[in-house]
Amino acid sequence: MEGWHGWDEYAAYYDWENAQTVGRRDIAFWKHMASTVRGPVLELGCGTGRVALPVARNGTTVVGIDRSQPMLDRARKRVRRARLQSQVQLVRGDIRFLPFPDKSFPLVMAPYGILQSLLVERDLTKTLAAVSRGLTRKGTFGLELVADLPAWDEYSKRISMRGKRGPNGKPITLVESVVQDRAKQITRFEQEFVEGRGKNAVRQKFGLAFRTLTVPQMVRRLEKAGLEVSALLGDYRGGPWDLRSEVWIILARRG
Ligand SMILES: C[S@@+](CC[C@H](N)C(=O)[O-])C[C@H]1O[C@@H](n2cnc3c(N)ncnc32)[C@H](O)[C@@H]1O
Repeated sequence: MEGWHGWDEYAAYYDWENAQTVGRRDIAFWKHMASTVRGPVLELGCGTGRVALPVARNGTTVVGIDRSQPMLDRARKRVRRARLQSQVQLVRGDIRFLPFPDKSFPLVMAPYGILQSLLVERDLTKTLAAVSRGLTRKGTFGLELVADLPAWDEYSKRISMRGKRGPNGKPITLVESVVQDRAKQITRFEQEFVEGRGKNAVRQKFGLAFRTLTVPQMVRRLEKAGLEVSALLGDYRGGPWDLRSEVWIILARRG
């Protein structure tokens, strides 16, 4: 399994589920980061535009790259509805092979654990090298790792979410299993969304996998890619990171 697998099938449920989990808690942070630079910012794994749209609405030009067409289709619809076509450019592509000229972006954002979708070292190395090349001189790379992934308990077929109205207006249930491969630092989810009831229920099953490095491990990778870590943040207001922090944000600069 690769880290980009599963997102096409997840797309129809992503916004519904995230409205109840991550919501908008990181949005003000990314808006602020983007407001400190001049020029377009790049968002790695922009998905349905959860971050890209508010950042663009705040006056920044955003280029979002994502490998999943169904996720991008949703982002595109939102961009059109918000009339932000001149502010948001959506590109279908893989973050390991960024298709942009060197030194294009004063800020590259990697919100909500996108780098954790890179399941093997080689892919992380490739991506960090591509990001480093894409940054302007003194440009900033901001990334968030979802801190609690390695701490998830293993369980099998648990009903982890229920709603009276899912994305298609029907009752919805999420049945989820979690397996941890501690040696490889990988958390695997098997998810099944069930919409409607009884015989007419519609089921969508898919797997997602994430690899979580610790903050010091990620810092070493960034430095190896020629980036200089400028801040470790432990909350979205800019407070410092420590081992107990629930938020893991790293800012690194191209020297
Ligand atoms: C957790 S979502 C984040 C979406 C958005 N940034 C947000 O915060 O809501 C991860 C996204 O990364 C994309 N993705 C995963 N691996 C990728 C890869 N190798 N290249 C490009 N996109 C990838 C998925 O398709 C998915 O849309």
